[in-house]
Amino acid sequence: MRSLRKTGAAGAVLVSVVLVLALLHSWPSRGYSTVDVWQRRGALHQDDRFNDHHLSAIPIRVRDSVAGLLSRNSCVCEGDSGGLNLPFSQLLFPRVSAHSLHTSFRPSELEELKRRRAHEFESYQRRAQTAADLLLIAEANSPLQFPTQGVEVRPLKTIIIPGLALHDSPRDLYTVNLTAGLGTLNVAAEVEAVRLRGDGDSHMTITSSALNSLNRQLQFVTYTNTQFHPSTADTVQFETDRHQASFIIKIRHSTTPKLYNTGSSQEYNVSALVTIATKTFLRYDKLQDLIDSIRKFYPTVTIVIADDSENPQSISGPFIEHYIMPFGKGWFAGRNLAVSQVTTKYVLWVDDDFIFSSNTKLEKLVDVLERTTLDLVRCNTSVFFQSGGK
Ligand SMILES: *[C@@H]1O[C@H](CO)[C@@H](O)[C@H](O)[C@H]1NC(C)=O
Ligand SMILES: *[C@@H]1O[C@H](CO)[C@@H](O)[C@H](O)[C@H]1NC(C)=O
Repeated sequence: MRSLRKTGAAGAVLVSVVLVLALLHSWPSRGYSTVDVWQRRGALHQDDRFNDHHLSAIPIRVRDSVAGLLSRNSCVCEGDSGGLNLPFSQLLFPRVSAHSLHTSFRPSELEELKRRRAHEFESYQRRAQTAADLLLIAEANSPLQFPTQGVEVRPLKTIIIPGLALHDSPRDLYTVNLTAGLGTLNVAAEVEAVRLRGDGDSHMTITSSALNSLNRQLQFVTYTNTQFHPSTADTVQFETDRHQASFIIKIRHSTTPKLYNTGSSQEYNVSALVTIATKTFLRYDKLQDLIDSIRKFYPTVTIVIADDSENPQSISGPFIEHYIMPFGKGWFAGRNLAVSQVTTKYVLWVDDDFIFSSNTKLEKLVDVLERTTLDLVRCNTSVFFQSGGK
């Protein structure tokens, strides 16, 4: 009895030593860089043309209540902080968890992994962004300078409207009006000798007797979306005496980049990049021929089979996923089911009577999609495309 208790106590000590070691091992030891999902090509702050340097001498007073809203546009993937950070608290009271890359991979893998991730992110951006997303600003041939496109806000969030300015001939008093439809206007900082009316409202008037002060103030105009309606746009009116302009602010959620692990070797690793999907109905002999022919050339490529036969037979083997559906669900339902189970970057769709030969080179199809922004390649009856919703 006594020795049993002793063993138990020793066991408990051992377990906690192991836990402490595990904890120390997973303790984040240094800062880490992240892929900046907000990174935009041609962002304004990299473009000095529209940052009038003679204006930067004019002093400003930051309006914390509005400026604070701007910081909410970005986020960092970290576990919840706050509360006591006791050892074991993560094990006992699991909270939002985020794994640090540095502790999840060996140092030797890490650099290579980061390089691949950056490459995938770039290729994602090439696909996901178009010229319509770039920020363009109309320079003043009317006295009003404003962004013509590329201004974007997430629903219910706040941004600074970039590029607003007035280039008017000398006069006693300069006035501009801004009017928004689905949100409110405000300023993130106030400028001396500028009068604001309607700040915090959808119609704001800015007045000053000094043109430079007015332009300085225009650098801090904010837009806050107040009507929740993603994937739409607000038209903002910008006017001064006898001149009027409108521009568009897109209201939309950001899309999360989809990045795939494409394998580490220099050549295309078809098993890591491609899943072969098919839909079958009754023709098990044809299906078996297809599987046999695939295995001759690609022994470790995953094959996803959707099957709505009345009396389904078992199809098994390494790297085969067989999904049995209710009888007669049909071709479209089967294709959707099969594609929904794909986790690789690309999927090859084939009919169940397709046969692979020594001329069926998936590497060539992968190469076309990797080198271009095309979404789909086709040869004979098979179709090859990016998984994940295009
Ligand atoms: C600006 O708006 C105010 C109030 O709506 C209006 O009285 C004024 O005429 C407008 N000024 C300009 C320059 O459009
Ligand atoms: C190719 O990818 C598969 C699946 O991810 C992996 O098991 C295999 O080791 C990779 N082969 C090479 C040569 O990297």
